[in-house]
Amino acid sequence: MGFKVAVVGATGNVGREMLDILAERTFPADEVVAIASRKSQGVEVTFGEKTLKVKALEHYDFSDVDICLMSAGSAVSKEWSPKIAAQGAVVIDNSSCWRYDADVPLIVPEVNADAVVGFRKRGIIANPNCSTAQLVVALKPLHDKAKIKRVVVSTYQSVSGAGKDAMDELFEQTKAVFTLGEIETKKFPKRIAFNLIPHIDVFMEDGYTKEEWKMVAETKKILDPKIKLTATCVRVPVFIGHSEAVNVEFEQPITVDEAHEILRKAPGCLVIDKHEPGGYITPYECAGEDATYISRVREDATVENGLTFWCVSDNLRKGAALNAVQIAECLINRKLISAKRKAA
Ligand SMILES: NC(=O)c1ccc[n+]([C@@H]2O[C@H](COP(=O)([O-])OP(=O)(O)OC[C@H]3O[C@@H](n4cnc5c(N)ncnc54)[C@H](OP(=O)(O)O)[C@@H]3O)[C@@H](O)[C@H]2O)c1
Repeated sequence: MGFKVAVVGATGNVGREMLDILAERTFPADEVVAIASRKSQGVEVTFGEKTLKVKALEHYDFSDVDICLMSAGSAVSKEWSPKIAAQGAVVIDNSSCWRYDADVPLIVPEVNADAVVGFRKRGIIANPNCSTAQLVVALKPLHDKAKIKRVVVSTYQSVSGAGKDAMDELFEQTKAVFTLGEIETKKFPKRIAFNLIPHIDVFMEDGYTKEEWKMVAETKKILDPKIKLTATCVRVPVFIGHSEAVNVEFEQPITVDEAHEILRKAPGCLVIDKHEPGGYITPYECAGEDATYISRVREDATVENGLTFWCVSDNLRKGAALNAVQIAECLINRKLISAKRKAA
């Protein structure tokens, strides 16, 4: 008997991608249920060749669900994840609600898959922020080789990272620019079409934004608490794909050639780095892809043992849905869970 998987937030950007990825990877599920808010009850979503009718979260009985992939925001997760876990389903959550809880593992399978066993404490596993996920996939193999001291990262984050309404806002504003219509801002604090916004999530007391703080806290939890990191997170008018300019200072020497070789072999990484026009990856090209792409690796001669690189990934996939499905696969492959429903 296969697993029963619930996708909560199935009408959203991440939830729809989760359904696609479960189907693409022929995840060993006998049944997949799509769940969202009451307003979406009965709405149809695609799952491979099939169509699923969305069910309302508040009326759903999770007692025969094995795995719940949750992507409905922090408030929903705070209320529902413990209730769903109490019914015996393992919750893999995409919001930031549980990421910093010491009793909840924060997992990127290419980096810290062994920590997944910690799910037993609360029945919840957290998925990192989209910008952290791709960063740690690229940093991990380099850290193993030359030990990272400090990272300076600037992000160029697509609007899909802020949900489906944010994608609509970029689309509507772009249309309005060309038709001389009114530019409405609802989701973003300033116009995003043909613009950049150096502000994602709320401001903290020290002047950093919460998105920037998340990158620091999550890199420490997933990779190494000793790594020092500073981030500047910027929203850009791109629909899908987060990009990052990353500057790394290592304890030990590491050359560009060594970094290329290590990254080429590293799980989840793909190196495209030709020193010619177009010899690098842009967010447009990474949309719909699973890899974390690394380009423009070069020595940073302003520090001892420094490297700089460009890193791009599909934020809805590696940054969210794919990572969550990989965590679920990890639980199954390591035989940490078994299906509740047995064959008759
Ligand atoms: N987008 C990314 O790159 C990314 C990356 C990492 C993590 N995340 C996190 O993943 C979560 C979802 O993001 P998203 O981009 O998919 O957002 P989204 O496109 O706005 O979708 C939100 C989903 O949550 C559902 N939902 C909202 N309120 C609900 C409720 N009370 N009960 C049940 N379902 C409810 C919505 O259902 P209705 O359609 O019925 O309202 C919808 O399916 C967020 O926590 C986000 O921070 C996103």
